[in-house]
Amino acid sequence: MTKRRILVTSALPYANGSIHLGHLVEYIQTDIWVRFQKMRGHEIYYVCADDTHGTPIMLRAEKEGITPEALIARVHDEHFEDFTGFHIHFDSYYSTHSDETRHYSEDIYHKLKAAGLVQVRGIEQLYDPQKHMFLPDRFVKGECPKCAARDQYGDSCEVCGAAYAPTDLKNPYSAISGAIPIKKSSEHYFFSLSDQRCVDFLRRWTRAGHLQPEAANKMHEWLGDAGENKLSDWDISRDAPYFGFEIPDAPGKYFYVWLDAPIGYMGSFKHLCTREDLDFDAYWHKDTDTELYHFIGKDILYFHALFWPAMLENSGYRTPTRIFAHGFLTVNGEKMSKSRGTFITAASYLKQGLNPEWLRYYYAAKLNGTMEDIDLNLDDFIVRVNSDLVGKFINIASRCAGFIAKRFDGKLVDADSYISMQQLIDTRFTNWRPGTIETAYEERDYSQAVRQMMKFADEANEFIHEMAPWEIAKDASRNAELQRICSLGIQLFYLLSRYLKPILPETIRQVETFLNCRPLTWPRLADSEPVSQLLLPPGHTINAYQHLMTRMESKQIGALVEANRESLTADQAGSTKTTAATKQTTIAPITETVSIDDFSKIDLRVAKIMNAEHVEGADKLLKLTLDIGSEQRTVFAGIKSAYNPDQLIGRMTVMVANLAPRKMKFGLSEGMVLAAGSGGSELFILSPDSGALPGMRIK
Ligand code: MSP
Ligand code: ZN
Repeated sequence: MTKRRILVTSALPYANGSIHLGHLVEYIQTDIWVRFQKMRGHEIYYVCADDTHGTPIMLRAEKEGITPEALIARVHDEHFEDFTGFHIHFDSYYSTHSDETRHYSEDIYHKLKAAGLVQVRGIEQLYDPQKHMFLPDRFVKGECPKCAARDQYGDSCEVCGAAYAPTDLKNPYSAISGAIPIKKSSEHYFFSLSDQRCVDFLRRWTRAGHLQPEAANKMHEWLGDAGENKLSDWDISRDAPYFGFEIPDAPGKYFYVWLDAPIGYMGSFKHLCTREDLDFDAYWHKDTDTELYHFIGKDILYFHALFWPAMLENSGYRTPTRIFAHGFLTVNGEKMSKSRGTFITAASYLKQGLNPEWLRYYYAAKLNGTMEDIDLNLDDFIVRVNSDLVGKFINIASRCAGFIAKRFDGKLVDADSYISMQQLIDTRFTNWRPGTIETAYEERDYSQAVRQMMKFADEANEFIHEMAPWEIAKDASRNAELQRICSLGIQLFYLLSRYLKPILPETIRQVETFLNCRPLTWPRLADSEPVSQLLLPPGHTINAYQHLMTRMESKQIGALVEANRESLTADQAGSTKTTAATKQTTIAPITETVSIDDFSKIDLRVAKIMNAEHVEGADKLLKLTLDIGSEQRTVFAGIKSAYNPDQLIGRMTVMVANLAPRKMKFGLSEGMVLAAGSGGSELFILSPDSGALPGMRIK
């Protein structure tokens, strides 16, 4: 076997959020693959890091009243603990906020610039005049230019799905301060992706077997046909204030987070090289024959299959061997949801005492190496784990181990009956397909590997069932037979353990202790080769059986979901808190002093909302019918963006009762209701304490 040299990465999780079960699809998938290759004896390293730069992280730190450095240090520890808890083993788990990543970011930037692929251009963007900063798309909100839905983000509308520029929004406001943004221009640095050199290279590269077929097709759509040029240059700079690396020759300008994020793969690996004295160039030099694989989610394909290879190619580094994109996790067939309790964090899963290998196994049973989404069906999760892992796999050992320990001092059959046992195994178990399992792992089609292993486990269980050692054990004269059957059962369990090890590293570590064997490695066997060469030797002694895995109880899943459910009120409290914290800069100054006489000219009355309805053709107004004791009034109130008519009918509020009536397009408005807030969904009408009656005057 030739020893391969392989470098593997998973996408770098953002340093402003917790690891959840969606993330784990990726890290578990990668970890299984890496463990498989390590077992095969290849030289392989798995690196990752926290993705630490960008506006959201800067603002989050500000909100928490700590420095971004303190925030990313804390989150780094949390992430690392979560991954470790799921037996995800990195050779280096680092940070993009590191000297190494800065070094390679500057290096690549200088080389791209020297190649004439960096351009400076002035662009106009929305700017928050209160926060004194340019607003990233997601931090501008306003009305959708297509469908007029309110409170939509600056890049796309969640109501009609339209994509647009933040400058297209109607009535935009800053999601940070609430201020109305102004248009302001500044100089930005662009990576010239539309340069013919990049286009030609990418057209070739995306077709050269580096991508899964469905990913290659997607890229082809983005690239267009030969002769077409659909790529735009990529904006790689952001203006201060920004948390990131300042661009060397451009004070006040920072590298956009997505510029240095993939370079974080190099930074993390460089860190490992220093620690373990490895040769960085052997992995990253453009003529290297080492393999480089990036495991990513389908949402970040664009960055990894276009920008990243183009950056590497044009700065003299090697490009990735392959990009492995996976789909998204759904829970019970739906997007993960905080209110349903299916937005499950890695930490909560561990804290509830659920076995991380249950999830590793379930994901493995579902992953097939394509970009299809995968569903965690919570009922199926329980059934699958209990029937496959406990009922099929562990069961083989638990039915045979006791007799070996009690009746034979832990000793398996010795030489005289060993050969007949080998023959029996070689001939009887037709579902033994080591080559198929190996290929399935290599191709990340773990579902296929699992299927094959479980077929074999079924066969093993049928055999034990047929032989019924528990019956034979009743007759002391059949001792030799009992030892043969149970030894065979243990051998089958031993075989299966080896092949399950990438998925269940912790259980199999315990199995190795129990079976008193050396750490299991990967045998190279074709489907047709006899299994008998893999068995534990004649007369081998095993240790006493310790319970290896418990069954999953449905109440454990219930508790997990409950622990992750955020009630609607908690959600609302959360968002109100954010609003108060982020909007405090917008408190308007107090106006000119008035006398009590001036004030008493305003006749404020408690009013009961008898009816509320939409007004045809009016996009801001609701028509209210108000009871003020002595009479009923009609008022058109501009509160449609914040209230449904249903929420209003029957409640009490406060109105200005002596305001001169105003003729409006939709009818006469006979007064005004009072509300606080900046507008949009931030509108709060007043209510009196209970006991107040319609018509009472407010003094
Ligand atoms: N920081 C970027 C990646 C930079 S890589 C140079 C990022 N971070 S992330 O935290 O949002 O996501 C990290 C990885 O987890 C991505 O590959 C993403 O696709 C994956 N997943 C995040 N949520 C997921 C699901 N719900 N399901 C499956 N994978 C998901 O993107
Ligand atoms: Zn819309």
